[in-house]
Amino acid sequence: MRHFITLDDLSNFEIEQIFRLADQMRTQIATWSGFCKGKLLATLFYEPSTRTRLSFESAVERLDGRAIGFADPHAASVAKGETIADTVRMVANYSDIIVVRHNWAGSARVMACYSTVPVINGGDGSHRHPTQALTDLYTILQRKGGIEGIKVGICGDLRYGRSAHSLALAVARFGGRLVHIAPHGFQMPEWVLSRVKHLYGQEPLERGHLSDVIGELDVIYVNRLQQERLPPEIDREAASKSYLVNSAVMSGAKSDAIIMHPLPRVNELAYELDADGRAAYFEQSANGVPIRMALIASLLGLEQLILTQPPERKIASDNRSCDNLNCVTAHEHYLEPETEMITDDLTTAVCAYCGAIKPVTM
Ligand code: NCD
Repeated sequence: MRHFITLDDLSNFEIEQIFRLADQMRTQIATWSGFCKGKLLATLFYEPSTRTRLSFESAVERLDGRAIGFADPHAASVAKGETIADTVRMVANYSDIIVVRHNWAGSARVMACYSTVPVINGGDGSHRHPTQALTDLYTILQRKGGIEGIKVGICGDLRYGRSAHSLALAVARFGGRLVHIAPHGFQMPEWVLSRVKHLYGQEPLERGHLSDVIGELDVIYVNRLQQERLPPEIDREAASKSYLVNSAVMSGAKSDAIIMHPLPRVNELAYELDADGRAAYFEQSANGVPIRMALIASLLGLEQLILTQPPERKIASDNRSCDNLNCVTAHEHYLEPETEMITDDLTTAVCAYCGAIKPVTM
């Protein structure tokens, strides 16, 4: 059984297979309807969502499966203090595949450990959002024909934006060149930069203003300020006005650059750009359905060619706890610390749940 908690759970070949299946599901839906007949998808959404939850539900129902779940955790047993491990043990009996969105980093991984059916990460805190990254890669491939060598500018709140983290890791893995553009205090976190460097040998350009680099970019990927994740000391009002992509900014961009955004947008991407041929964000959100159809079918083992053995990760148990307060291990106390080594010489150790870098012990 395979889960999809991070993009590292799939090999490059498997990702390409999923894209091929998504192409077919998008263009020949009649051939594929009936593929998930009798299958139940459970959506456990502890955080707000429009696109991710509805596109998963749409995906399974278009394949003639059905969806159950909750979008309001106050109405579920978590409000009575149930652990996520217990919740998933129950839900695995009620469904064939589970999607979870939760505000703690590493929560989806915990659920995968306790589930007897495949678990998909629909966003875990400010950590990762791998199904968004699959959709983003697919959209870039459709519009630009490839990833290798193209310049992808990821702009906005890169510190707390999980879509930005998963996208940066995905682009670096497939040979795209990263440019990170963030206002002061919202730069890409060290754990992402360290993975990008050690796993893919890349040190992204870091810039404070989009206008400094816009003419070089093939993809301009905008992220909203993650208001709900900001610590109280940050001036939200000032931060929310610190960046805006509009027609004036885009006048400096290449004529064949594309504008992407995981959505929802708030006030960082002007409506006037919707009519610009370079805007790809609604297409990007539409692509979420065939991508999730292909992923669900693959994880359910319905498309036998895809998904054999998971790529190997170097995980060790050790007694160094994680000091990230948003890590699931800080909240669910039955969990033992686990460490992932991301370099061969074993010098770079990170929390296997939330990815935070652990100090090296002698
Ligand atoms: C993103 C998320 O939830 O992280 N939304 C989405 O799933 N498309 C981006 C965001 O909320 O800013």
